[in-house]
Amino acid sequence: MRIAMIGTGYVGLVSGVCFSDFGHEVVCVDRDPSKIDALTAGRVPIFEPGLEDLMRRNVEAGRLSFSGDLAAAVAGAEAVFIAVGTPTRRGDGHADLTYVMGAAAEIAAALTGHTVVVVKSTVPVGTNRQVAEAIRTARPDADFDIASNPEFLREGAAIDDFMRPDRVVVGVESDRAAEVMAEVYRPLFLREFPIVTTSLESAEMIKYAANAFLATKITFINEIAALCEATGADVKSVAKGMGLDNRIGRTFLHAGPGFGGSCFPKDTRALARIGQEHGTPMRITETVIEVNEAMKRRMIEKLRELLDGSFNGRTIAVLGVTFKPNTDDMREAPSLTIVPALVGGGARVRVTDPQGRREGEALLPGVTWAEDAYAAADGADAVVILTEWNEFRALDLKRITRSGPRVLADLRNIYDAETAAEAGFAAYAGVGR
Ligand code: UDX
Repeated sequence: MRIAMIGTGYVGLVSGVCFSDFGHEVVCVDRDPSKIDALTAGRVPIFEPGLEDLMRRNVEAGRLSFSGDLAAAVAGAEAVFIAVGTPTRRGDGHADLTYVMGAAAEIAAALTGHTVVVVKSTVPVGTNRQVAEAIRTARPDADFDIASNPEFLREGAAIDDFMRPDRVVVGVESDRAAEVMAEVYRPLFLREFPIVTTSLESAEMIKYAANAFLATKITFINEIAALCEATGADVKSVAKGMGLDNRIGRTFLHAGPGFGGSCFPKDTRALARIGQEHGTPMRITETVIEVNEAMKRRMIEKLRELLDGSFNGRTIAVLGVTFKPNTDDMREAPSLTIVPALVGGGARVRVTDPQGRREGEALLPGVTWAEDAYAAADGADAVVILTEWNEFRALDLKRITRSGPRVLADLRNIYDAETAAEAGFAAYAGVGR
């Protein structure tokens, strides 16, 4: 099957590469010539484990190519995926559909033969229908169907999530579109991964509901963590005790500095906005957004307390600034709230991150970048673990205390008070314990 993937951002690139690995013939299209040049030269613009290899293999097999020519890619394709960005619109929290509607217009002009236009971008409920109408108005003669196919990829585990999904969600209005989508996902279908086929609106809603629910789960445990600190309970035990109940489940109950990333913050805001527009406020989601912001600020107060009330003149090593490990993505990372508060409070901040520097340098002014955790900690007063990269999980803590730091703030609960004390730290703080 021939597929055109419009947009080579995170979702588009991962999906395009994986579809080609299924055996489909895929052309990934982007209007940014520098991106197409880099991809054609075999360079992947994002850090995603396994992606570059998979991309190379499929390019070599002749199934995957990159192009700036949308019209040519669409003309030859049986399925055209829209995977362009839907950032939060300034001011109102709504998802900005400029790129989606722009892509739809260009696709409309290029349609030949029967084509399924598939919206993969996360879009407000009702957008798929709007896209279909826009195409129909522009090209009343075109033979096309619309499908909604939201993605559930986690950064850092995207290939695995794509190849072994918990489910694939497909929203369609016609049998013809359902058949093409079944063909697109045939390898997963054969391996009996659940494919949920539903209406356009339900597919759109599943994506927002799933992300808002996960964001709620994290925020719930973060709030419980705050209460654990006040009451003497340990959130790790609480999460375990809760999570063993099958109805609750163990995942997404790690207390931390608050969620970030390209999806949860944006999608919770968009869902809240959709609720307001329909006169059905999403009060839980609205509260989650507020509490998550408060959680990030709570971390600043926790650090201040740990440093006896002031950051002024202290040297602080920050380990990890990306919103989570195995990504170079800094979007809405808790570090963007926490690090500036340290710098603003008069601390000298030394930062290290295995992948975050490229993006982080511009986003975190006033910090010094260090090669690794030991260089960052050398001579510092305190060490703050913000992102749980593997290389921070088995640090030689004694080596760190020998080089100066006496305070360990472990905002991902990797270590515990006993281990920290044994290594020579005078003070330790986790989250919720
Ligand atoms: C998420 C969803 O998991 C994915 O299905 C969706 O389509 C896109 O958004 P992603 O943003 O890549 O994926 O990361 P994820 O691993 O879900 O983590 C999101 C944030 O929550 C991170 O900041 C992470 O640190 C935080 N988190 C996650 C916690 O604080 N505790 C947890 O238990 C889990």
